Amino acid sequence: MSTEPEIYPVPADLAARAHMDRAGYEAARIAARETPDAYWSEQAKRLDWMTFPSKIKDVSFNKEDFRIRWFEDGVLNVSANCIDRHLPHRENDTAIIWEGDEPTDSEHVTYGQLHERVCRMANVLKANGVRKGDRVTIYLPMIPEAAYAMLACARIGAVHSVIFGGFSPDSIAGRIEDCGSTFVITADEGCRGGKKVPLKANVDKALEKVSGVDGVLLIRHTGADVGFVEGRDRDYETEAAKVTAHCHPEPMQAEDPLFILYTSGSTGKPKGVLHTTGGYLFWASYTHELVFDYRPGEVFWCTADVGWVTGHSYGVYGPLANGATTLLFEGVPNYPTVSRFWEVIDKHKVEIFYTAPTALRSLMREGDAPVKATSRKSLRLLGSVGEPINPEAWRWYHEVVGDGRLPIVDTWWQTETGGVLISPLPGATDLKPGSATKPLPGVELQIVDAEGGVLEGATEGNLCITDSWPGQMRTVYGDHARFFETYFSTYPGKYFTGDGCRRDADGYYWITGRVDDVINVSGHRMGTAEVESALVLHDDVAEAAVVGFPHDIKGQGIYAYVTLNKGVVATDALRTALVAQVRLEIGPIAAPDVIQWAPGLPKTRSGKIMRRILRKIAENELGALGDTSTLADPSVVDDLVKNRAA
Ligand code: PRX
Repeated sequence: MSTEPEIYPVPADLAARAHMDRAGYEAARIAARETPDAYWSEQAKRLDWMTFPSKIKDVSFNKEDFRIRWFEDGVLNVSANCIDRHLPHRENDTAIIWEGDEPTDSEHVTYGQLHERVCRMANVLKANGVRKGDRVTIYLPMIPEAAYAMLACARIGAVHSVIFGGFSPDSIAGRIEDCGSTFVITADEGCRGGKKVPLKANVDKALEKVSGVDGVLLIRHTGADVGFVEGRDRDYETEAAKVTAHCHPEPMQAEDPLFILYTSGSTGKPKGVLHTTGGYLFWASYTHELVFDYRPGEVFWCTADVGWVTGHSYGVYGPLANGATTLLFEGVPNYPTVSRFWEVIDKHKVEIFYTAPTALRSLMREGDAPVKATSRKSLRLLGSVGEPINPEAWRWYHEVVGDGRLPIVDTWWQTETGGVLISPLPGATDLKPGSATKPLPGVELQIVDAEGGVLEGATEGNLCITDSWPGQMRTVYGDHARFFETYFSTYPGKYFTGDGCRRDADGYYWITGRVDDVINVSGHRMGTAEVESALVLHDDVAEAAVVGFPHDIKGQGIYAYVTLNKGVVATDALRTALVAQVRLEIGPIAAPDVIQWAPGLPKTRSGKIMRRILRKIAENELGALGDTSTLADPSVVDDLVKNRAA
């Protein structure tokens, strides 16, 4: 069916200057596979260790002796690696460029200033009782303080849990409760596309539902008049004035936790993905340099919010560990105009630009003129992340944004992987639009069939990883059994990614999307079970089943089948109320695109919902419903097809 797309060879100048060329890549793959301790020990020198590790890799994916440990006896501090070690030669270089929601707002923060501000914030945390190992919740807009807060936690050994500003008070409360967080850092409001996001008000509401938080640090960003709970809330400016700008970085074991980040799975509530100090920072730094072929002094812009893993690894930790200038953008791609991304690139002379296909698709719809009105001549590399990039969007990115002169790195990875695992290397890998191409050194992929049988050569199946890499998550916070169950039990001895994947005759990998009950909406992960739970909380709802469907801009949209209680009349007002209910429970990003009233859901005789059928109806693949004879009541399918929402 599929026609092989064109190949874009590595430009000769890139091959000549790259950190890793083709031969280097092949050699590194072999070294990482055959002599892992020697290879990773050598690579670990990129970090500044208080004690250099002598134990490098200690891993088993098997149930009996399951363990994942890297650089175990090494001692280091993440904030010292991201700041202090650059001071001797880079104190006056820009660490962070902040671009606000309004084009008139921007700021440059040097490494020297970053040091001072992070130390101050760290001292404020300490003065307010935050200790090594405590969990600190960060709910901030994309302002430099978000990076200061993360680095301040890392400096004193506190574990941060950043929550994206689009999540609701209920979601915040759930995450605070799950990790037993005692302290919250937030701002009065955020600004996105000219609209205000009521961050502090959301925190106040969340804290009505959960106990155990004894302090809220409030950063004044917009200056809005927000609630202030005496005894609990602290004003950041006031607190910062009381402490010094010197804070010794806490020596941390490599396997000590650095952060928790919640992400959706196919079942239950979001999982607290835990990443560690040594392995995570190493992987963020190593991949940032290799994948983007990063050189000191370059301006690097990852458009992801720090509330997502991409913002953690390539907005903050990777670039700062490498002494880069990282750009943090508070706004959105279409405010005040649809040229904003490209204007920001010109304004700050961005050299490497890393964004998501959903943003590209929405801008592509606006035509080429808003792009062509800008110069973009500072750019030398483009990146994509978060979902499969369709070849059409890839070509537009390449030809229109990149004027046909810039390579694109399509990077595949997950919250769980800490950093990129599959990606072209600019100086080593020929590109094929729509393919994330090849695994990085140390990443051992396998494609298996449903029973776990290993598939060789050109094939398609489920994507597994057979060995560990340093950036791998170490546990689900508070539930190690769930960690093993979720990722290592489906195909024993292997990490199962949850993604489907094709490998072509050249050994290139093509991610086809999730094969579990996770949907990817605008590059954001959403568990269908979470949305269903939110819907059934409504008094009028008896049952709900949620699936993904192809969406031109978002990649996938959310399609909900809802069965109402007996006697309840289906109205547009109820539909609106149900969408509002989901926004309230989870946040605006989980709002269903389509709600179809379903008098009945297709169930097996044992009561299991046949999602395969619901997916096909949502995708409008009505000819491919398959065998419905095992259903308890096959006639419900006819009704769903007949009344399919447009
Ligand atoms: O399905 C894959 C998709 O996003 C999932 C991971 O989502 P999350 O943990 O939120 O992390 C997103 C940012 C790293 C994966 O299981 N995905 C991510 N990148 C790509 C991708 N699918 C195809 N191509 C990619 N480049």
